[in-house]
Amino acid sequence: MNDAIRPGAETAPQTALPEISVVVPTFNERDNVAKLYLKLVATFGATPWEVVFVDDNSPDCTWEVVRELSRRDPRVRCIRRIGRRGLSGACIEGILASSAPYAAVMDADLQHDETQLPKMLALLQSGEAELVIGSRYIEGGSADSFDKQRAGISAFATEIAKRTLGVKVSDPMSGFFAIRRDRFEKLAPELSTQGFKILLDIIATARGELKTKEIPFTFGTRLHGESKLDSMVALDFIGLVLAKLTGDVISLRFILFGLVGTSGLVVHLTTLFIALNAFRMPFAEAQLAGALVAMTSNFVLNNFLTYRDQRLKGFALIRGLLLFYMVCSVGLFANVGVAFSVYDQEPIWWLAGAAGALMGVVWNYAMSGLFVWRKR
Ligand code: GDD
Ligand code: MN
Repeated sequence: MNDAIRPGAETAPQTALPEISVVVPTFNERDNVAKLYLKLVATFGATPWEVVFVDDNSPDCTWEVVRELSRRDPRVRCIRRIGRRGLSGACIEGILASSAPYAAVMDADLQHDETQLPKMLALLQSGEAELVIGSRYIEGGSADSFDKQRAGISAFATEIAKRTLGVKVSDPMSGFFAIRRDRFEKLAPELSTQGFKILLDIIATARGELKTKEIPFTFGTRLHGESKLDSMVALDFIGLVLAKLTGDVISLRFILFGLVGTSGLVVHLTTLFIALNAFRMPFAEAQLAGALVAMTSNFVLNNFLTYRDQRLKGFALIRGLLLFYMVCSVGLFANVGVAFSVYDQEPIWWLAGAAGALMGVVWNYAMSGLFVWRKR
């Protein structure tokens, strides 16, 4: 081993290795990060720790503030991701980039009670737990800052998660938890990078094999800025439940893509009807118009819903639309081809039609992911 990197060598830095890495996903949290940092300094005292901020290239330049902090304190690190969005994905990358034996995840906005972190760490170190959850729903915890509507939705989703996925903890939607990094590392390849519900994903993926403890905390009010959870969170949640139930055969993206495709059928038929009756177009042209309008609306909806974390804008939007037309046109051939050959074997019209449609959707989905909304 090279002397310069051998632990304990004269040239090695004299800082203690962190016992815990706190991972903080950020998006537009410029005014909160320094305050959180100071709170962490006060909380950990002599315990060696580090904090990894994972910022998705926030428009308010949160990463600039974090970088400034990290130039003054090497315990602070910043991962700036470009061209990507997503709370779960940010947490996963942050944990995987850390080196401490334990990792905690928390919000940047001071809604999570950092004074619980030493307690969480102690439970992990003693081996009493491999996963410690900061829970709002056990004795001593609360989510007073929730309005009635959000409290209701949160309770409902928790109930669904418990019943469908056999989750036993009281607060699987919490965004505040700590875990042994080696356990996390094993689960990481199976976790979804989409969505908000990373803890639920971890619990469901571990299938009861993680020794889990919950400790109560009070979910406070956000300091600065606003929540990034929108109505899409419900969609993310349903998608995660379905993916876990089907052993990841059905992904949220595929479901959304299929739903958008179904809406496209309605759009197509409506356009066809209008073109035939109101504009008195010949059938072939009316059918073509229907297909064009449906493809366009599918593209727009997919861009807003299915691929909202990779939304195309400006010139890329036009380019994407043209590529999408191409992908779908080939998909139509695949659709008709499969339908024909099924019908040839077994002349049942709905079976052949459905097989063709399924082939079309799978083709369009696979090719759109490769060419239209490909990961940069
Ligand atoms: N990197 C990154 N990318 N960070 C994000 C993103 C993103 O796309 N979206 C949100 N964040 C960061 C925020 O900046 C914040 O630090 C943290 O993730 C949580 O987001 P909030 O917008 O503060 O969410 P919340 O307070 O409404 O929801 C919290 O409570 C939920 C339970 O009710 C979060 O902790 C959720 O994870 C939790 O499920
Ligand atoms: Mn928050």
